[in-house]
Amino acid sequence: MSAASIRLPLWAQTVASLAGAPAAGPLLLGVDYYPDQTPEALWEEDARMMADFGFTNVRIAEFAWALMEPAEGKFDFAWLRRSVEILHKHNIAVILGTPSAAPPPWLTAKYPDIVEVNEKGERLHPGGRRFTCPTNQVYRRLSLIIASEMARTFTETPGVIGWQIDNEFTLGSSQRCYCNYCQAGFQTWLRSRYGTLDNLNQSWGTVFWSQTYTDFSQIPVPLPSGGDPNPGLALDYDRYQSYANVSFQQEQLDMLRKTCPRHFVTTNNVGLVDTINMRDLYEKLDFTAFDNYPGFFDMLMAQQGRMGSSAFVSSSIALGHDLARSVKGGKPFMIMEEQSGKAGQKTFSPQPEKGQARLWTYQAIAHGAMGVNYFRWDTATFGAEEYWHGILNHDRSKSPAFDEIKQGVKELKALGREVLYSNYVADAALVFDYDCSWALAIQPGHFRLAYLDQIVSWYGAISASRSGIDVIGPEIDLSAYKIVFAPVAYVMSEKQAARIRSFVQGGGMFVTNFRLGVKTETSQIVRTPLPGLLRDVMGVTVEDYIPVYSAKNGMKFSPALAGPDSECVLWTDILQPAGAEVLASYTMGAHAGQPAITMNSFGKGKAVYIGGDLNEASLARVLRTLSGMAGVKPPLEVPAGVEVTVRKAGNKQWIFVLNHGASSQSVNLPAAFVDLLTGEKLTGKIDIGAYGVRVLQA
Ligand code: GAL
Repeated sequence: MSAASIRLPLWAQTVASLAGAPAAGPLLLGVDYYPDQTPEALWEEDARMMADFGFTNVRIAEFAWALMEPAEGKFDFAWLRRSVEILHKHNIAVILGTPSAAPPPWLTAKYPDIVEVNEKGERLHPGGRRFTCPTNQVYRRLSLIIASEMARTFTETPGVIGWQIDNEFTLGSSQRCYCNYCQAGFQTWLRSRYGTLDNLNQSWGTVFWSQTYTDFSQIPVPLPSGGDPNPGLALDYDRYQSYANVSFQQEQLDMLRKTCPRHFVTTNNVGLVDTINMRDLYEKLDFTAFDNYPGFFDMLMAQQGRMGSSAFVSSSIALGHDLARSVKGGKPFMIMEEQSGKAGQKTFSPQPEKGQARLWTYQAIAHGAMGVNYFRWDTATFGAEEYWHGILNHDRSKSPAFDEIKQGVKELKALGREVLYSNYVADAALVFDYDCSWALAIQPGHFRLAYLDQIVSWYGAISASRSGIDVIGPEIDLSAYKIVFAPVAYVMSEKQAARIRSFVQGGGMFVTNFRLGVKTETSQIVRTPLPGLLRDVMGVTVEDYIPVYSAKNGMKFSPALAGPDSECVLWTDILQPAGAEVLASYTMGAHAGQPAITMNSFGKGKAVYIGGDLNEASLARVLRTLSGMAGVKPPLEVPAGVEVTVRKAGNKQWIFVLNHGASSQSVNLPAAFVDLLTGEKLTGKIDIGAYGVRVLQA
């Protein structure tokens, strides 16, 4: 989708003029700032330093409810106005955050029912943040009131350009609420989804364990109950919680559209880790905004005993960016919070290496970002995030990344908005389906089988083919792609199956694996042989499906996928081809010699079924080989650890080359290029320094 299709109301022009640039899209190269946590005597100095740094904007106030409404119905925005005025004086534009993620103590003391009940049925306690119920009407009403007062106060204030609604809707220690209000909300939602109880009972199969409902008010939420919940109910509850958060946001959005028509509106999220459907969340917002903390992935890896998996970390981050962009059909997105130093609440993430903060900035841009805000300006000396390092240290000295972030901001301004608002080029798509993710979490089939793990490994393997990748939902038309990957497509709707069928018929390559098409949209198992609705397209029947525990299995490849044998890690589907060609077979046990990977010709295209869970090296090789067969060509051949992406506007094209490794790497250029960051003319073999970046143009 073209970048020019971003709404460009007055806000765009305001920012453009603030940034001293010709009217087009806004330049959002800023920082998250907390005047509420900073002595007022420092505000002027802060604004001056930010302007000198080159920042164009801040995001402020998203956790300042207690200061803005110190008692119910008593508002005080004078401090915020003073802060905005100082920032504006220094040409720093302001994104205001509505504060609903952290209601103040007077509110929870008076209305204790707004506090979330977790998956064990225990009510959380105020004292942290994001402890709220998304259905509770009192919480919603009070959130809307404070947001409306803010909006009325700042709609005409010079320098205010946009809004972030709330903060990371579902990122909390408990991600879903199970209180009585949510139960009633769920029942109402079910009534409109199913119409009749008869339909609901049939759709869920409630006759099992005597769960037939004779009144909507009897329907429970999936709290502990001496046995697992009905899978249809559990999946619908995940959908309901996502809906509840989106509709909570919608109330603030409707108000902001009316009160602040000159401003843009977005919200921030943490991508794959959030338990909310991003596509619904951003549908009516102006652009996606996303928080990027590579250090978290490093900590996660370390917790799983996978220290130093830098390729895995960089591909997880790339995946997050590709999701952020794809959520709004390819529109340029913004990083609302970019890690700028050591991060952490109780423990520190690794210290970013010299060059990494700048590299992460370019990684976002390379994947389609149009703006980056760093988290945060200064480093808090109090509160739960004292360990979260910003651009300034605790003593307000320069952080280790100060100079490189400043350099990056300067370079991005020089590259200009044509690059920042250009389109990302993708030949391949990876399907990321919330239904599959949630349904598989409810019944993984194997205790180590997790949808997100599969998505991340597949993404890593596909990105090794260096093609641009869109991370799409199941509702997207596939005809724009050469190849579409859909791992563990466990829930398959008729509409999605029809889209896949016509994509393959028209000449595309569809690549999938075990657990394909097992479930209907109401989480019942299909009554046809697997892979259910796509059996004809795949040209195979799944004869049996086998989780792998102590009885191991392995896979041997045909010449088309030639390479060392693979172990089968978690799963083997035993395949009975009906016309499909066999590309690999199992090597052990009762099923030795039987097909493990098949490729079917269907219409003008191909459909590939990978029956076993491949190890990392084989998955990378197999997916890269298939991409090659589908006609995907890398823009440049680069070594492992180097990432390459392409952005495009009209007939101009920019190639981003990013070295995620700690030592320099070389790349052979097929033609003459200019590095837009240095002005150098380049041909033949070039070096990309440790954590280095090049932006090439022919
Ligand atoms: C983000 C959040 C910020 C801050 C940051 C560091 O997830 O939006 O408010 O908490 O993490 O923890």
